[in-house]
Amino acid sequence: MIWTIFLLFQAVLLYFILTHRSRSKSDPPLDKGVIPWLGHALEFGKDAAKFLTRMKQKHGDIFTVRVAGRYVTVLLDPHSFDTVINDSDSLDFSRYAQVLMERIFNLQLPHQQPAKEKAMMREQFHGMNLSALNSTISRNLQAMLNAKMPQNQKDWKEEGLFDFSYSLLFKAGYLTLFGGEQNNNSTDPSHVYDEYKKFDGLLTKLARGMLTPEEKRTAKSVRQRLWELLAPAGRTEGSGSSPWLQFYRGMLQEAGADEEMQRRAVLMQLWATQGNVGPAAFWLLGFLLTNPESLTAVRMEMETSDKHVDTPVFDSALEETLRLTAAPFITREVVQEKTLHMADGQEYVLRKGDRVCLFPFSSPQMDPEIHHEPQKYKYDRFLNANGSVKRDFYKAGRQLKYYTMPWGAGANGCVGKQFAINTIRQFVYMVLTNYDLELCDPLAPMPEVNASRYGFGMLQPEQDLLFRYKPRKNNLD
Ligand code: HEM
Repeated sequence: MIWTIFLLFQAVLLYFILTHRSRSKSDPPLDKGVIPWLGHALEFGKDAAKFLTRMKQKHGDIFTVRVAGRYVTVLLDPHSFDTVINDSDSLDFSRYAQVLMERIFNLQLPHQQPAKEKAMMREQFHGMNLSALNSTISRNLQAMLNAKMPQNQKDWKEEGLFDFSYSLLFKAGYLTLFGGEQNNNSTDPSHVYDEYKKFDGLLTKLARGMLTPEEKRTAKSVRQRLWELLAPAGRTEGSGSSPWLQFYRGMLQEAGADEEMQRRAVLMQLWATQGNVGPAAFWLLGFLLTNPESLTAVRMEMETSDKHVDTPVFDSALEETLRLTAAPFITREVVQEKTLHMADGQEYVLRKGDRVCLFPFSSPQMDPEIHHEPQKYKYDRFLNANGSVKRDFYKAGRQLKYYTMPWGAGANGCVGKQFAINTIRQFVYMVLTNYDLELCDPLAPMPEVNASRYGFGMLQPEQDLLFRYKPRKNNLD
């Protein structure tokens, strides 16, 4: 007994010696939290935005917190973001990305050529290729909307707006990029969507390693089913999938990834390409329906402008939506010690082995110094009085380069940004010009956000927002 207590005491002592960390003069403020090892992990996972706001009030624009054994330096001054975004030598993107790939998708990719892959992605989602994708997704969206609500329908149809937007955009996006056919049991987009939604619901817990044993079993079997459903995607030209996916598969093959790993990588791409567009379209339509003056302004522009070419009002309404609902973490691993020069002249040392994290949702996006009444949806926030695009926003008296950052930035920013914007624009255009729509409860507010999703791209609502729609009598098309 005495020996057991002695050994336990030694182990605890050793743990504290090995993990002890105190702040030196050159370190950012350090906040380890009271729970050994875990630190702030629970509060961080429950509602990162609330937690980081509390830390910002306590420590300022930069601080280091302990989260599940790791030290994470959080930087919330947008004037200083470039020092992190532009330094890929000391701050590595891929290591933490690999940790997440493994946890979420059970994916270990062989040595890849990130520069080659990125160049291919850029080519596939821009220029002529982008135009081809735009027409394909437009056709798919139109067909799906018509199937859901034929133009000769007279009665209102009631639905949840989140489910309506996410399911339509997911299915049209899946058909466009991954191929598949409707009414084909194994590749029907509805089938894939139903499975994907289950997976999506477990995604943040998977990423944090916080699943219950029951959830772990569900996650495993849903993932397995999705791998099977995605098996044909991009494998051959006849699979109906986009050239992008075929190139991607080819690159994986060249790098030595076997069939199994390729399917897992295809699921990751399904998430990267389909996980954000539907939720973004939901928030946009939701804000338009709950703010009638914005709906009128967007409708008017759509009815008078040359279809979807020059749409500053729509662009501002979307930018404002993303300001309020896009909340990715931009995380890097410190692979060699780095001195971080803040815009205000302060200098801090980032320690090797730590992580550094930007959370643009807190600042610039919800920062009251930058955006007046940041909680409010103002569709024209990004418009000047003369109707041109507004780009000048300030903090501490200086104009900002990053005044909203839904797409990330730098070399790892979103490659699908233009495709995503075009898709959402077409979807909103089709819905608003073909249908009358209104909230079931005209006074319903926007639903609360699911706070556990901060850090994972587009936020999702806690509950759906009920609306009804029916074909418009004199629609424009
Ligand atoms: C509203 C919709 C979207 C939002 C808000 C969004 C946002 C983002 C963000 C913030 C990142 C950077 C992640 C990081 O720094 O760790 C990213 C990466 C990426 N996005 Fe998007 N995205 C959207 C839609 C799309 C679409 C439609 C596609 C393709 C069809 C796409 C393809 C990608 C890819 C491939 C990456 C990874 C880039 C890399 O690894 O360097 N995204 N996205």
